[in-house]
Amino acid sequence: MPRFEIRRRALATCALGVLSAAVALVTPAPAAAAASTLGAGAAQNGRYFGTAIASGRLNDPVYTTIANREFNSVTAENEMKIDATEPQRDRFDFTAADRVYNWAVQNGKQVRGHTLAWHSQQPDWMRSLSGGALRQAMINHINGVMAHYRGKIVQWDVVNEAFADGGSGARRDSNLQRTGNDWIEVAFRTARAADPAAKLCYNDYNVENWTWAKTQAMYAMVRDFKQRGVPIDCVGFQAHFNSGSPYDSNFRTTLRNFAALGVDVAITELDIQGAPPATYANVTNDCLAVPRCLGITVWGVRDTDSWRPEHTPLLFDGNGNKKAAYTSVLNALNATSPPTPGSRTIRGVGSGRCLDVPGAATTDGTQLQLWDCHNGTNQQWTSTSAGELRVYGDKCLDAAGTANGAKVQIYNCWGGDNQKWRLNSDGSIVGVQSGLCLDAAGAANGALIQLYSCWNSGNQRWTRA
Ligand code: G3I
Repeated sequence: MPRFEIRRRALATCALGVLSAAVALVTPAPAAAAASTLGAGAAQNGRYFGTAIASGRLNDPVYTTIANREFNSVTAENEMKIDATEPQRDRFDFTAADRVYNWAVQNGKQVRGHTLAWHSQQPDWMRSLSGGALRQAMINHINGVMAHYRGKIVQWDVVNEAFADGGSGARRDSNLQRTGNDWIEVAFRTARAADPAAKLCYNDYNVENWTWAKTQAMYAMVRDFKQRGVPIDCVGFQAHFNSGSPYDSNFRTTLRNFAALGVDVAITELDIQGAPPATYANVTNDCLAVPRCLGITVWGVRDTDSWRPEHTPLLFDGNGNKKAAYTSVLNALNATSPPTPGSRTIRGVGSGRCLDVPGAATTDGTQLQLWDCHNGTNQQWTSTSAGELRVYGDKCLDAAGTANGAKVQIYNCWGGDNQKWRLNSDGSIVGVQSGLCLDAAGAANGALIQLYSCWNSGNQRWTRA
């Protein structure tokens, strides 16, 4: 279906959004306060903040208290891997995986699935297979695990760590790779059929630095998959930074370039040797700067929970105290979208025209449009510390829905997330509730304003003047 056709259909459904905004009016407006946990801080930016959870630690109350308080997304550290879920061929065992899954869901958290096809942590029976038998075993495994969690996992790491380290840009040699170069796309096609609701991710490490051969190889694969219609929705950057694989500020370029291919990106296993606060803040800001960055997961709660405790790479020390890195991450999550004092116009980069309330109307539900900039009061927007964009003092830029094509209108300010916006450094303006971009459905006078998936084109970039 052509893009404009999708938009027209979506516009026709916007009346529903008006209804929900009206219902929401009865909800009291929350006070605008800085978030006090990582999960809440990420949520106010339309992201999640997650952690790896180890089932064996779920009876440690210090661990569960921190994990429950701070994080709103969970990845099983080992329990959903191949050796754990299919220890014997065709005999699936979800005991440990379900412990983690149930703890997460009972505590209101979303779950990332990790991982379905990987050269490591294979059970003995799989390690001894090759060729067509191994290929079939991989397919059976994906089907078995995804069937158990069908509709319940937001993102699945379908394939993990398939590229070689070093400068070759080659695939990693493994029993799966030796079944044929197409094993990765077969895994993704199998996964899409097994659970169409899950976002399907490719996940790897040492792929954060844009100049590295491994990064470029992964980029070429994702571009090829998108061109050929292989179903891939997201790329996970593990982000295990250490002295041999240090953080580089070009990580943001990497995230942006992958997002521009039409996939979401996520930071999936973050830990940083020594936990320098500035580097943790940089990584956080990198994700916040890229509208398609879904969220951040750290690979464990306390340093003592880490797979490499000697590097003390996490946000809490062994006693469960917040480290300096914790504060720098939380500050970064709270520091976004600083209010710009005074009223300003919001000008479309592609059109050169301004965000405008048609006819200077004040009626709730009036959809916004582009119009020649003239500095009238119906083009003057004030950003507030709550993340609102206000016009006439008490009317807010309001999303009447959360889907592509949802109309963007004026509505009485009431403090809802559909009235909060993140002004990104790349010029995009992202709805906190939907994660979608403020989008002009055209460039002429009268072009309507809607929500749409972020793709960083001129009709989604804005300047304030
Ligand atoms: O549970 C057994 C225990 O019974 C036994 O006594 C002990 C003896 O070694 O081993 C325990 O299992 C260990 C398991 O972690 C649970 O602690 C395994 O040996 C050990 O190999 C395993 O390590 C995991 C590693 O993946 C395996 O590849 C780490 O916990 C886990 O953090 C790590 O996670 C990976 C991601 O999946 C992919 N990206 C890299 C990341 C870090 O290596």
